[in-house]
Amino acid sequence: MSVTTPAMPVPAPGTATLPAAAPAPAAAGPSPAELLDFVRATAADADLVATLPLDPGNRTWVQLVGPGGSEAWLIGWPPGTGTGWHDHGGSQGAFATAAGTLREDSLAVRLPTEGWRTLELENGVDRCRALSTGEGRAFGRHHVHQVLNESGAEHAVSVHAYYPPLPLMRRYSRTGPLLRLEEVERPEDWQ
Ligand SMILES: [Fe+2]
Repeated sequence: MSVTTPAMPVPAPGTATLPAAAPAPAAAGPSPAELLDFVRATAADADLVATLPLDPGNRTWVQLVGPGGSEAWLIGWPPGTGTGWHDHGGSQGAFATAAGTLREDSLAVRLPTEGWRTLELENGVDRCRALSTGEGRAFGRHHVHQVLNESGAEHAVSVHAYYPPLPLMRRYSRTGPLLRLEEVERPEDWQ
């Protein structure tokens, strides 16, 4: 693994007050590896995956019961849809592809979570992977990524799990090396 350097904050006028940091996960909760086991097993459950309604124009989702108090979702991705850049508010997690192929772009650097609106990323921090049917990945509390279905024709389906349940998600825009905090979503925004 290559050595990376921390992203450098760029002062921005009118910096807004950001929400307090998410609480640390309870030690007793499922680990990323356990969440990965769950999402892989669930993604392989064809009967369950078939219960997800698919919409050719929009993402669809069904909430699942995750292990150990985790939050879990089955998500459908029409061709060309994606999440945009985001974090998981301090939760760790995992996801696995149940149908089709998903692309994940991520950052191999830990960002400061608070006190900035715009960061200039160092060269070399971008990572990209393709997760085809049956493949998954786990991630830690500070993971920043975007997930997209680049297919022009094929729907993708995936299973996601987070622990603790997502307290919030920070959404970012990306222009070259500049990452900008655009929005903080709360559970009431997606449940
Ligand atoms: Fe995510």
